[in-house]
Amino acid sequence: MRSIRFATVALAAAALSLPLVTGVATADPAADQQAAPHSNARFDRLRWAAPEGFVVGTAVAGGGHHLSQDYPDPFTYDAEYRKILGRQFSSVSPENQMKWDSIHPEKDRYDFGQADAIVEFAEKHGQVVRGHTLLWHSQNPAWLTQGNFSKAELREILREHIATVVGRYAGRIQQWDVANEIFDDQGKLRTTDNIWIRELGPGIVADAFRWAHEADPKAKLFFNDYNVESVNAKSNSYYTLVQQLLAQGVPVHGFSVQAHLSTRYGFPGDLENNLRRFDALGLETAVTELDVRMDLPESGVPTAEMERKQADYYQRALSACLAVDGCNSFTIWGFTDKYSWVPVFFEGEGFANVMTDDYTRKPAFYALRDTLKAARQG
Ligand code: G3I
Repeated sequence: MRSIRFATVALAAAALSLPLVTGVATADPAADQQAAPHSNARFDRLRWAAPEGFVVGTAVAGGGHHLSQDYPDPFTYDAEYRKILGRQFSSVSPENQMKWDSIHPEKDRYDFGQADAIVEFAEKHGQVVRGHTLLWHSQNPAWLTQGNFSKAELREILREHIATVVGRYAGRIQQWDVANEIFDDQGKLRTTDNIWIRELGPGIVADAFRWAHEADPKAKLFFNDYNVESVNAKSNSYYTLVQQLLAQGVPVHGFSVQAHLSTRYGFPGDLENNLRRFDALGLETAVTELDVRMDLPESGVPTAEMERKQADYYQRALSACLAVDGCNSFTIWGFTDKYSWVPVFFEGEGFANVMTDDYTRKPAFYALRDTLKAARQG
C-alpha cells in the first residue's frame, strides 16, 4: 500500500509546512538539501533509501540507563550523534523522555523539556514521532506507586496524565504506544506488577485508548510488547484482546513488536505471518525497538561471522515488515553501541546496534540500507 504510506507522511509534512521532494517521503531541510534528490549520497541514508511512506526510526538516547553512565545526555550534547539522527532517520522514539518518571516527576508537576526538544528536533528534520508510553508497569515514579491513592484517584491520575501528555503533542505524534507490555510471557495480563490493571481491572486498558483518542484523534494508537514477534501465547493474548476491543469500538489502531533479538536464539521466522494476522484485523503493524545483541568473545570483538549473522537478523526483521501492507514504521532501538541499553542489562552481551561506538557502520547497517533500496526499486 505504497500510496497510503506516502499519504500519511505527506499529510504530516504538509501539516508542518515542509517541502516534499519528488519521489521521497519527506525533506530534511537542515542536512539534506545539499544533496540532489536522486544522488547516491541521498540514497546512502536509510530514510531516503526507504520506499515512499515507509518510515525508518530510531530511539533517541536519553534518560533511563544513560543517567548512570559517565557521559552527558546523548541527544543534547553529542553533536555527531545528532547529525546522524537527523540524516539517517525519518521517525524518532523518545527512549525514556516521555515515560512517566521523566515527564511527570511529581503529582502536580510535568517536565516537558526533553520531550519538547525531541518533538522540535523531529519537526525541524522532517521526521515523525512515536510516543512511548502511557500505560506501563515500569518506570513509574515513586509518588505514583507509593501514593496509596484510592481507585477513583488513580483513575483520575491516569486520565489526566493521558489528556495532558497526548493533548500537548496533539497532531505532532504519528503513533502512540498507549499500552506497553501488559501481558507476561505466558500470555497472562500483568495483574500484579501493572499498577493500573491491578488496582483498576483490565477495563482500564480500553479507557486508556479512549482517552488517548479523545486527546489526539489523529494519532495511531498501539499495543507494544517484546517476545511477541512469533505466534505464541503472548501474541495470541494480544490477538484475542484486540478482537474484543475492536468489537466494542475501542480506538485501537496498531500492534507493534519491539524485536529485542539475540543471535543466541534463532530468528523468529514467523514474524511476517504474525504481523499479517494483525494486519488482517485491520490494524497497522510496526517494528518498534529492534536490536540484535550477541554473546561477546573475551576479546570483546565479534568475528566476521557473528557480524554477518547479526546483519541477517536485521535484514529479515526489516523484510518481514516491508512484506506486510500496513507495516509502515520500522524502528531500531538506538543506532550506536555507544549508548546501548544492552550491556547495562545483559552481562557479557552487546554489539547490538548497526553502528559501533565510534559510529562506524556495520554490515547490519548496509543490510538495512540495501534492503530498503531494493524495496524502493521493486
Ligand atoms: O528507577 C531507578 C531509580 O530509582 C534509580 O535512581 C536510577 C539510577 O540510575 O535507576 C532507575 O532505573 C533506571 C530506569 O531506566 C529508569 O530511569 C534503570 O536503572 C535503567 O536501566 C532503565 O533503563 C531503561 C529501561 O527501558 C527501563 O526499563 C532504558 O534506558 C531503556 O532503553 C529501556 O527501554 C525499554 C523500552 O522502554 C520498552 N521495551 C524494552 C526496552 C529495553 O529494556
